Amino acid sequence: MKIAVCPGSFDPITMGHLDIITRASMLFDRVIVLISINAAKKTAFSLEERVELTRKAVAHLPNVEVDSFGGLLVDYVRRRQAAVIVRGLRAMSDFEYEFQMALANKRMNPDAETVFLTTAAENMYLSSSLIKQIVSFGGHVEGLVPECIREEIEQRLSPREKRS
Ligand code: PNS
Repeated sequence: MKIAVCPGSFDPITMGHLDIITRASMLFDRVIVLISINAAKKTAFSLEERVELTRKAVAHLPNVEVDSFGGLLVDYVRRRQAAVIVRGLRAMSDFEYEFQMALANKRMNPDAETVFLTTAAENMYLSSSLIKQIVSFGGHVEGLVPECIREEIEQRLSPREKRS
C-alpha cells in the first residue's frame, strides 16, 4: 500500500491545497494530510482549528485522513511507513524553498521521496496568506476556500465590526 503525506501549515486550507490533496488521493492508496509546525510562521488558526477545518474540507475523500504532528516531518513519515511526501508547486518562487526542504528531508530520511504536483492554473495566485488578508479587510472568499468552511473562516477572521 502506497501511503503519501501532504504536510503543510494549512492556515487555513485553500482550494489550491484541496486540489493537490484530491489529485494525490487519486495517485496513492492513502493520503495523510499532516498539519505541521512551520517554525517560521505565526498562525492565525490554532492547530486544533486547522485540523477541524481541514477534516471538514476533505471529508468527501474516502482515502484521505487528517493528522497533526509537532515534530520533524521525516520522523512522522517514518512512523507511518509512508513512501512519499507530496507538495504543491505554484511558481518558480516556491521552488528554492521547496528544493531546500526536499533535500533536507531526503538527507534525514533517504527512504522517503518528495513528489511535487504543479498547481492548477486557476489556483496559481492562491495562498493562505491571501485568504487571511482578504477576510481581515472584510472581503469574501467564495471559490477560494472549500465552500463547507468558508463561513467559518469569514466569521473567525473578519474585522470585529462585521461579525454577526
Ligand atoms: O505550508 P507550509 O508552511 O509551507 O509547510 C511547511 C511545513 C510545515 C511542511 C514544514 O515547515 C515542515 O515540514 N515542518 C515540520 C518540521 C520539519 O520537519 N522541519 C524541517 C523541514 S526541512
